[in-house]
Amino acid sequence: MKGIILAGGSGTRLYPLTKAVSKQILPLYDKPMIYYPLSVLMLAGIREVLIISTPRDIALFRELFAQGDWLGMRFEYAVQESPRGLADAFIVGGKFIADQPCALVLGDNVFYGSGFSGTLRNSASLVEREGGGAIFGYYVKDPTSYGVVEIDAAGKALSIEEKPNAPKSHYAVPGLYFYDSDVVGIAKNIQPSARGEIEITAVNNAYLAAGRLSVEVLGRGMAWLDTGTYDGLLEASNFIATIQKRQGMYVSCIEEIAYSNGWISQKDLREIARSYKTEYGEYLAYIAEGA
Ligand code: DAU
Repeated sequence: MKGIILAGGSGTRLYPLTKAVSKQILPLYDKPMIYYPLSVLMLAGIREVLIISTPRDIALFRELFAQGDWLGMRFEYAVQESPRGLADAFIVGGKFIADQPCALVLGDNVFYGSGFSGTLRNSASLVEREGGGAIFGYYVKDPTSYGVVEIDAAGKALSIEEKPNAPKSHYAVPGLYFYDSDVVGIAKNIQPSARGEIEITAVNNAYLAAGRLSVEVLGRGMAWLDTGTYDGLLEASNFIATIQKRQGMYVSCIEEIAYSNGWISQKDLREIARSYKTEYGEYLAYIAEGA
């Protein structure tokens, strides 16, 4: 399975923070924001990743991750000329996906919780085995600014709507999606919505109409954090700092995940640790010595 991180967009909702730089490179406590969605793909076992960003910002991500061999991964980069909508990721990324199943994660979505790696691996292998699509539902108090999925008693999706005024459920659809390679053709056939975007919700509705969409509810023990406002950014940073200081274990530490996945050696991890003259580097050294 391949992975795409969509890390473009205009970022105007966070001006002036994002006037000169991509939202997805902003710090969440001790790491650039994109580390968090990248860790999700890595925990799903995905080693080949395409990062899509704006003509202005793509160079930042290339500088951050390069070819990816330092993580035992392979990174590619592509430009989205304008923010045409989330489903555009599959058009921009069509060649990269080729005939493989693919996961898409939005570059500003942060997930953390017990059992999440297992959930990710299950969804990836379900789509690899049976095709179709797999999305998630997450209970929120006010779902009106998200995709909203209505689920029946057996856990089957009944409807999905984008930012409804009168939501049919409290289940928001987080920015993490698994699809078979049909997604490229599906995305190409989507017409722009009233807000002028080719919506990911339209992709999900195409799979739903074909009876090929599974939904899994992420339970109360999962955190899916909002990074769309100044307060959301601050609260996410505080949440990450609180967990890391209390447990002494890092949230979304991509170097640690690469090591525990067996993608880099102990020697590689030690080298990265030495090159970061920070607490983060000390943590990597501690992991390398068999914490
Ligand atoms: O976060 C989950 C939600 O993301 C879903 O529940 C919604 O169904 C989905 O439409 C999306 O809603 P948003 O309104 O939050 O999407 P937004 O326009 O903020 O874009 C999400 C991220 O993707 C943001 O970091 C910018 C980036 N982006 C967005 C668009 C439209 C791109 O890189 N390219 C794009 O064309």
